[in-house]
Amino acid sequence: MGRAFVYVILGGGVAAGYAALEFVKKGVSHGELCIISDEPVAPYERPALSKGFLLPEAAARLPSFHTCVGANEERLTPKWYREHGIELVLGTGVKSADVKRKTLLTTTGETISYKFLIVATGARALKLEEFGVSGSDAENVCYLRDIADANRLVNVIQSCPEGNAVVIGGGYIGMECAASLVINKMNVTMVFPEEHCMARLFTTKIANYYEEYYKSRGVNFVKGTVLSSFDFDSNGKVTAVNLRDGSTLSVDMVVVGIGIRPNTGLFEGQLTLEKGGIKVNGMLQSSNSSVYAIGDVAAFPVKAFGETRRLEHVDSARKSAKHVVAAIMEPDKTGEFDYIPFFYSRIFTLSWQFYGDNVGEVVYFGDMSGSAFGAYWVSKGQLVGAFLEGGNKEEYEAIAKVTSLRPAIEDLTELERQGLRYAVTV
Ligand code: FDA
Ligand code: NAD
Repeated sequence: MGRAFVYVILGGGVAAGYAALEFVKKGVSHGELCIISDEPVAPYERPALSKGFLLPEAAARLPSFHTCVGANEERLTPKWYREHGIELVLGTGVKSADVKRKTLLTTTGETISYKFLIVATGARALKLEEFGVSGSDAENVCYLRDIADANRLVNVIQSCPEGNAVVIGGGYIGMECAASLVINKMNVTMVFPEEHCMARLFTTKIANYYEEYYKSRGVNFVKGTVLSSFDFDSNGKVTAVNLRDGSTLSVDMVVVGIGIRPNTGLFEGQLTLEKGGIKVNGMLQSSNSSVYAIGDVAAFPVKAFGETRRLEHVDSARKSAKHVVAAIMEPDKTGEFDYIPFFYSRIFTLSWQFYGDNVGEVVYFGDMSGSAFGAYWVSKGQLVGAFLEGGNKEEYEAIAKVTSLRPAIEDLTELERQGLRYAVTV
């Protein structure tokens, strides 16, 4: 049993949704494109799951956040896929791939063949068991990667009103979920091994601003230590979190956000991997010329940095999706993917954006006791990164532009003196 398509997208997340829209814009014919996803719903804007989805009132629910509303584009409901002749195979995993034969075998036993394959399998949340701690299956321990996790998290929050929540991990999931838990009136303690939150991106000074704000909203921080074990009650529910520093926190629920692993398993031994992802060239093409990769699973050349990077953010998923469709359908008209990394977050009433690379010397600007402040990163005499909290549309556009221009910076003191004005006037 089997079907054949010209284009197959493996994975039905953010990148798949944006690629589908671009295929339609570029005139894909009915019956040519198939999307296979093990999720039961059409592609949606995953960032909503840690923000609007978790609100106690007027929470976001599907179909309101199907892709591509996050980029102010059309909202692609299952009906849209039907109307455009795109085969959406939902609730169906791909269990093996054969890139030589150009076939995929699904969990329902179907063989789907392709001329061009776009791998958009994203990533999975790392489990505590991978760090030697058991208890992930307990009913009040939550992860957050997909809509099933988000529904479960909402149910667990509702099961222990005004209870004690421990958030394990000080990265994006930890910070955004902690804020959402506070909004749900939970007592929140964050536990992470680093000296400060968001250690991959923030400097100590930037992190301090957010930590002080979180403390003012009642969040307690336990830093520099990790979880060593859980205590359970007779029903298998977690009642306490034991930390390696010897302390114990009693809990009603736990949220874990300790990083991800890209879903490359189907292609190990078949495609070249790098930085934990599928290595692709500037056309987003892997070591097999019929197979492309986009989104979290792709390690692609970031021209401005002169090196291969794998990014785990929605903007690169959206833009790589758009680019891959052009690379496949209009190869002669399409150049190499030229992308400046862009990350953002929204927590409580705060909102920040970051562009570029966080290497080199840091020059701060603005007023940390006021609402807007930021930082530039200067490496080898060039401005390579910019961060801004509390900016307006024009200001965010300005830091995006200045980062893409990578201007030469001779005098750090002068850059500091000009501050945000430098980006706005460059
Ligand atoms: P994505 O994970 O979206 O999709 C992968 C899809 O492939 C899934 O549908 C999966 O089920 C499917 N799949 C995997 N293996 C399969 C198989 N073998 N067979 C069939 N299907 C398979 N970023 C940002 O910049 N700003 C933000 O605010 C946020 N917020 C945010 C919140 C939360 C809760 C999460 C989990 C993530 C974010 N992100 C984010 C990150 C952002 O969502 C992420 O970078 C994109 O979703 C990546 O898109 P992809 O399409 O690559 O993977
Ligand atoms: P992350 O990489 O942002 O943070 C992981 C955190 O885990 C680290 O900061 C560290 O504090 C912690 N950690 C590592 N090992 C640990 C251990 N043994 N015990 C306790 N803590 C440990 O990953 P995440 O927060 O899990 O986010 C998952 C994915 O979702 C990422 O790809 C992220 O980019 C994405 N995401 C992005 C956004 C956004 O861009 N606004 C929002 C939510 C999620």
